[in-house]
Amino acid sequence: MRIYHAEHYDDMSRKAANILSAQVILKPASVLGLSTGSTPVGLYRQLAEWYRKGDVDFSGVTTVNLDEYQGLAPDDPQSYARFMRENFFDHINVKRENTHLPDGLAADAERECARYEAILRDSGGLDMLLLGIGHNGHIGFNEPGGAFEKGTHLVTLTQSTIEANQRFFPSADDVPRHAYTMGIRSIMQARTIVVVVSGASKAGIVRRAFAGPVTPEVPASVLQLHNNVILVGDREAMKQLRIEN
Ligand code: F6R
Repeated sequence: MRIYHAEHYDDMSRKAANILSAQVILKPASVLGLSTGSTPVGLYRQLAEWYRKGDVDFSGVTTVNLDEYQGLAPDDPQSYARFMRENFFDHINVKRENTHLPDGLAADAERECARYEAILRDSGGLDMLLLGIGHNGHIGFNEPGGAFEKGTHLVTLTQSTIEANQRFFPSADDVPRHAYTMGIRSIMQARTIVVVVSGASKAGIVRRAFAGPVTPEVPASVLQLHNNVILVGDREAMKQLRIEN
């Protein structure tokens, strides 16, 4: 694992954006796995700025997002599809038909998971996958206690994830109870994984994920078994991590 220490959130965003833009510059037809959440917002903003300046071109890129709530339409203000448009896709020149998210309104969940797996397969696999980590160690919506060998599947959100995501909804009752997510198997097949973490509230889980035992109780700990992980964290998030770099 390579570790990049950043001072604060903006510095982390810039360092992570540098890594993603280098990927796209070196391989213009890159397949990028992308996340939502608060952590990547700054790096998407940074990438959009570099696009505007002509430093990076997304016209050949394909994106495949990690997850989406079941039951939300793509234009729902809380959907991840909308998040991606507002925070990233609307500000760069990626071709809309080359951006993929699970369809929250799919009638048949099993078929939707199979469709998503086919997208991953037909794209040739993820060159670079951007991940955040939940306070309980989840990656995507792979919650503690889940199996490591799953591909894309439908999950029931845990209470702690519902509570964590409540900040984006009028109340906890409005948070959807189910979501589609790439599974740990799909995540581990990415060629490079970039993990971004920021803030003191992530310090404990960063330590458990990267310096503790590999266990389904901490889904992010499986990343210790991947041979090409880049961790980019700011001082607060990294303060409990003591591993050789
Ligand atoms: C988002 C996702 C989640 C988040 C995680 C961290 O697509 O898959 O696993 O990465 O919940 O979220 P933030 O960045 O808001 O702390």
